[in-house]
Amino acid sequence: MRIYTLRIDGRDVSGREDETILTVARQNGIDIPTLCHLDGLAERGACRLCIVELQGSPKLYAACVTLVKQDMDVITDSPRIRDYRRKILELIFAERNHVCSVCVVNGNCELQNLAVKLGMTHVRYDYLNLPHPVDASHPRFSLDHNRCVLCMRCIRVCKDIEGAHTWDIAGRGIHARIISDLNQPWGESETCTGCGKCVQVCPTGALSEKGKSVAEMTKRPEFLPYLQMMRKEAEP
Ligand code: FES
Repeated sequence: MRIYTLRIDGRDVSGREDETILTVARQNGIDIPTLCHLDGLAERGACRLCIVELQGSPKLYAACVTLVKQDMDVITDSPRIRDYRRKILELIFAERNHVCSVCVVNGNCELQNLAVKLGMTHVRYDYLNLPHPVDASHPRFSLDHNRCVLCMRCIRVCKDIEGAHTWDIAGRGIHARIISDLNQPWGESETCTGCGKCVQVCPTGALSEKGKSVAEMTKRPEFLPYLQMMRKEAEP
């Protein structure tokens, strides 16, 4: 196995020939934002939030799927990169419904954290507002396509780690969505083992455990007044 020496943000670092820019950067304490990447899963290069520049090239490269090379000179942060990352994030927000205030993972969401981290204060694009369905047919879990960012983590963890291959993707472009088995309701899936790994790795509120997220929310002090109000309204 060859070991290469390269530069990342002006620092001399080294990495194995089978390692990506993202891996080597993180090994050296250099942070690159990611969304579809998750340690332990095969890379897909789906979100493009990990884009970096290579000195001497006009192109942008996804750090999670670009292998290191000898004498590579990587730039992980620049006004151009920040601008593109913000645009990508805004496009993700504009494509589906990511209204945090009514989401079960509000306050515990990787997409929300990224928006804060990258300084996204608003979305400059028109919202598509496509009416995506919610699949609540599974006894323990639910799937809200409106919250899905198509990172495909669920597909990879189900196939590569659990070995079930319940999830896949159907459709193209803005109509793409994850499906269980041959587009059956999740609750009728014959391959789903109910392990919940897909729920664990989902970076948004697309896949959630029924009741659990709401129960966690209700433990937060700021939620108490609303809980009391809802209880009062529910009284006969
Ligand atoms: Fe690299 Fe998504 S983290 S493309």
